[in-house]
Amino acid sequence: MERTFIMIKPDGIQRRIMGEVISRIENKGFKILRAKLFKPSKSLIEEHYQEHREKEFFHELIDYISGESVMIMEVEGESAVEVMRLMIGNKDPKLAAPGTIRGDFSNEKTQNVIHGSDSIENANREISLWF
Ligand code: PPS
Repeated sequence: MERTFIMIKPDGIQRRIMGEVISRIENKGFKILRAKLFKPSKSLIEEHYQEHREKEFFHELIDYISGESVMIMEVEGESAVEVMRLMIGNKDPKLAAPGTIRGDFSNEKTQNVIHGSDSIENANREISLWF
């Protein structure tokens, strides 16, 4: 069984769609092994997104999450990394298909409800970092 790291981002918490997102994950047959609702430190968020530190959107991304609550989850299931990414949908609103979480609930690249690891290697890194 594969494991992935999922984070419901601040806009998902503030818009009270956390339950909807968790339902989709559970309805798919995935198991939530660990979960935590809390305000992460700025250094933890920066470490999580360190591969984007040179990008022009980096500071906007860190500021958006800093000081706000997120829900983190370790999710287990068959091909959990790839299948969760399919369920999450593309970060570009023009490419996020209806039926995906972003396709149904987000219309921008920063405040886009949810993060999911993009590889097994990153899933392991992110689970160790956050839990
Ligand atoms: S990229 O474009 O290939 O560097 O991006 P990607 O690896 O898909 O992930 C980018 C993450 O940063 C968030 N983000 C943005 N991406 C692109 N443009 C802008 N302006 C932007 N602002 C924030 C994006 O939502 C991805 O977040 P995660 O949580 O990793 O899905």
